[in-house]
Amino acid sequence: MNIQLSFTDEVKTNTSQIYNKIKDTVPDVEWPLLAPYIYEINKLKKETNSIILAHNYQTPQIFYGVADIVGDSLALAVEASKVKEDNIIMCGVHFMAETAKIMSPHKKVYLPNLKAGCSLAESITGQDVINLKKKYPGVPVVSYVNTSADVKAETDVCCTSANAVKVVESLGVNKVLFLPDEYLAKYVATKTKVEIISWHGKCQVHEQFSEKEIAELRKNYPEITIIAHPECSPDVISASDFAGSTSHMVNYVKDKKPKNVFLVTECSMSDNIQVENPNVNFIKTCNLCPHMKSITLSNILDCIKNKKNEILIDSNTIKRARGSIEKMIAIGRQD
Ligand code: 13P
Ligand code: SF4
Repeated sequence: MNIQLSFTDEVKTNTSQIYNKIKDTVPDVEWPLLAPYIYEINKLKKETNSIILAHNYQTPQIFYGVADIVGDSLALAVEASKVKEDNIIMCGVHFMAETAKIMSPHKKVYLPNLKAGCSLAESITGQDVINLKKKYPGVPVVSYVNTSADVKAETDVCCTSANAVKVVESLGVNKVLFLPDEYLAKYVATKTKVEIISWHGKCQVHEQFSEKEIAELRKNYPEITIIAHPECSPDVISASDFAGSTSHMVNYVKDKKPKNVFLVTECSMSDNIQVENPNVNFIKTCNLCPHMKSITLSNILDCIKNKKNEILIDSNTIKRARGSIEKMIAIGRQD
């Protein structure tokens, strides 16, 4: 297949709606370089019966340009289980693509860059969970969805930051193993009476934010609303006005329309929410997730065109991991 990546009149016309949407977040000079990829990916999607799922941390050109479904980790897990197309391209990180494969085992699932990992998922192995279960016999295991398929196979029920407290309380027990995010575990512990036994995983993006940074922002912008992701440290969360998952952040900004807002999370969140909320002033100091940012229009095109980077998981692991995600989906979101 020979693909000409030039900014032709056809490309310009067919991508103009997308450009109008994101022109305030994508520099003018970059558009002629991005548009041919967007045009080609969207064409190939139809020709190959493929669907693109993208996490909220993907760049605006992916989020608004080529994605069919966007959302937080919970939404992506739910949507992956309902896909009709033959091929799923996951614009996110490895655990998200694995989750999609577990939920749709008969579909082909691709990740545009197989090296797109996650410091949380890499902090724990299936064997670590087996060892913890021996140390705490009978204590149910709640694992963040940011874990490998092997960890999910040893897990009773998964959660995301959009339902962690609800999942823990749904078990009706007085103690749980909550893995692997130490900060999310601490956050959940402030919201429930259930005893939380945690692991030492951390998100390399959210652990960088500090209470000092937040105090300085409050000094510089007296009327600022600060919204933190629960993967941040307890100090950062208590210095913020609200804590919630990426979808909670989207809803908060949409409903409350704060004058100035700082999202204590990955950089693309502010860019993507800004598009739908042009009158909100986003303070855009942020931290990039190198894993999320390793997904590009160029490797999405390569993936969809050459069927590269398929996610393969053995059927036994899929069978054992699936129940923990199904239980999480059945529990649903918390407010
Ligand atoms: P949520 O979209 O579930 O809030 O997840 C944040 C995250 O860090 C995913 O990598
Ligand atoms: Fe993992 Fe943090 Fe990157 Fe999300 S932002 S993928 S939790 S390292």
